[in-house]
Formats: sequence, C-alpha cells, structure tokens
Amino acid sequence: MNILVFGKDGQLGKAFEQQLQHSFFQRGNTIRFVGRDECDLMDAIQITDLLNAFKPQLLINTAAYTAVDQAETESDLAFAINTKAPEVMAKYAASHGATLLHFSTDYVFDGSKRGSYTELDRTNPLSVYGKSKEVGERAMLNAFFDNSPGQFAILRTSWVYGDGGNFIRTILRLAKERTSLQVIDDQYGVPTSATWLAEVGCYLTIDGEKPRQFTSGIYHAVPLGETNWYGLASLVVQSALDAGQQLQVSPTAISPIPASGYRLPAPRPMNSRLSTNKLQIELERLGLVSKLPHWNTPWDEQVTAYVKQLSKN
Ligand SMILES: NC(=O)c1ccc[n+]([C@@H]2O[C@H](COP(=O)([O-])OP(=O)(O)OC[C@H]3O[C@@H](n4cnc5c(N)ncnc54)[C@H](OP(=O)(O)O)[C@@H]3O)[C@@H](O)[C@H]2O)c1
Repeated sequence: MNILVFGKDGQLGKAFEQQLQHSFFQRGNTIRFVGRDECDLMDAIQITDLLNAFKPQLLINTAAYTAVDQAETESDLAFAINTKAPEVMAKYAASHGATLLHFSTDYVFDGSKRGSYTELDRTNPLSVYGKSKEVGERAMLNAFFDNSPGQFAILRTSWVYGDGGNFIRTILRLAKERTSLQVIDDQYGVPTSATWLAEVGCYLTIDGEKPRQFTSGIYHAVPLGETNWYGLASLVVQSALDAGQQLQVSPTAISPIPASGYRLPAPRPMNSRLSTNKLQIELERLGLVSKLPHWNTPWDEQVTAYVKQLSKN
C-alpha cells in the first residue's frame, strides 16, 4: 500500500520515519514522508493535489501548529493547520476508503476533572491551540460520516519528547547554565516518548501490506504512570547525572512552584491525565498487546532511557 506521512521534520514525524524503517513495515509498502517544503498545510489545494497524485491507502498526520503560547496571537495559522488541514485529509480518506491516523492533545480538556480523562469526557480547551485541535477533531469526526468506507484513529497524547525541542531538553540546557531551577509541581500529566507513540501508531494501523482494520474513533495514548513538571525535571536531572553529564544543578537545587507563580500567555490544564483503557482494550482485541515491544514500559523508564541516549550524543 501507499503510506503518506505528514510532518517529517517534527518530533513525531522523525519517530515514524525511524519506526517505518523496520522491514516488517517496509515490505510491500511505498512510504513517503513530506515536510513543509513539499506540502504547506496552510494550502488546502497543495494537500489535495498531493493526495490525488500519491493515492495513499494510509495517511499519517504528525504535523501540527504546536507553538502553544504563540497560538494565542496567531489563531488563524493554528486553525488552518490544526483544523482545516486535518479536515481535508479526513475528507479524502473518508471518500477514498483510506485510513487516517491523526494526533491530538490533552489540551482539549480544561483540567478540572479529578482522575484521568476518558474519551467520553467533555472537552473544554483553555487555549487557542487546544481549541484548534479540538475543532480539528470534530471536523474529522464529521468527515467520516456513517458508512464511510474509510477509517480513522485520533490518538490524543501529552507532553511529547523526541528528536526536537521539548521540556526535557530545556531542563537539561538550563541545568548546565544555572545553579538552581524552579519548576511547576501542580500540573499533572504523562510524558510521552515520540518513539513509543510512533510504535503504537504503526502497529495500530499497519497489517503487513494493508491497513489494519480497527475500530475508528478517538483514543488516548500515553505510557503508564503520571507525574508533574517538577517530578519530571527532577528525574531528568538525576538521570543526566547518572549518565555522567556535567550539570550546575543538583536534584536538591530544584524547587517546586505552583503554576500560578509562572504565568504563560496560554493557560494549561492543571490535570492532563489521560486514561488509556479504551486503547488497551482495542489493542487486546487486535492481538497487539504482546507484539508491542514497549506498550507496558512506564513513562519514567522511558525518560531515563531518553536522557541516557541524549547523554551519549
Ligand atoms: N509536543 C507535545 O508536547 C505534544 C503534546 C500533545 C499532543 N501533541 C501532538 O502531537 C503531534 C506531534 O507533535 P510534535 O511534538 O511532533 O510537533 P513538532 O515537533 O512541533 O512538529 C510539528 C511539525 O508540523 C510541521 N508543520 C507546522 N506547520 C506546517 C505547515 N504549515 N505545513 C507543513 N508542515 C507544518 C512542522 O514543520 P516545520 O518543522 O517546518 O516547522 C513540524 O515539523 C501534533 O499533532 C501535536 O499537536 C504534541
């Protein structure tokens, strides 16, 4: 089949490129990765032309407008890329019997719930970015009208890190420059490795030379466990020291502060915990849980491995 991946230069796009190098995904498939240089998602005609020319049976959209704070003043851009572009892809997939894998965010929720959010919980984004992703989700759901021959999965995830700019890299940089750090300790969520997420996405949607038949819908996709930004920063610093990195900061020189003490242009949800029960059940139904190498690896083990890997470079 033809597989088209949007967002090749992003964290998740690069992780998909790495995953899809495995021979069991390559065999019998023609895989194409596109970035902004080849297809600007601001331009619906460019997207449509590319889809009509390449005729993908599987579309994977890892691209997005992800500048959360900047989105507050660039809402047109955020909505064009996070709402309109996925809608164009969804209409193509729905009408051509193709499969679409798309990604969304914990920021569709307002964070007021106690406990983990399920896919049935009401969305109520606090930021322009969150709203643009939420409206994008809805546009996709509408495109896959009843009896549409296509299928789709929207994987909502949180706190992504991979090959690109992210919180973990920021903490490592600051830990080399400063002797103390203050980090928010009352916003909770789950750090998600782009590698882990791409692995889940590939297994869910690819069955050899054809798209896997799964139940269309929204799924929450994050690793096991939970933390807050302070907990994550402390682990990152400790893991870097264990891996032999020279830092100015020690774990005891990191102080917890409330989010109210660190104002940003875009408000973030205080609770970003996502329940993955629905995805677990679907993966079990498809017989994939035992095949997914890292499905049950908790977030902290994954972060430690990531920091160790960064320390080697
Ligand atoms: N990062 C997180 O913490 C996080 C959390 C929750 C959900 N998510 C979701 O997870 C997915 C992957 O995120 P990520 O961390 O991989 O994001 P990322 O590293 O910021 O990558 C996004 C990619 O989208 C591309 N893009 C943006 N505007 C474009 C345009 N007009 N035309 C073509 N390409 C464009 C960017 O291209 P350039 O490289 O050319 O700029 C970039 O390569 C997204 O759907 C995001 O909303 C992310």
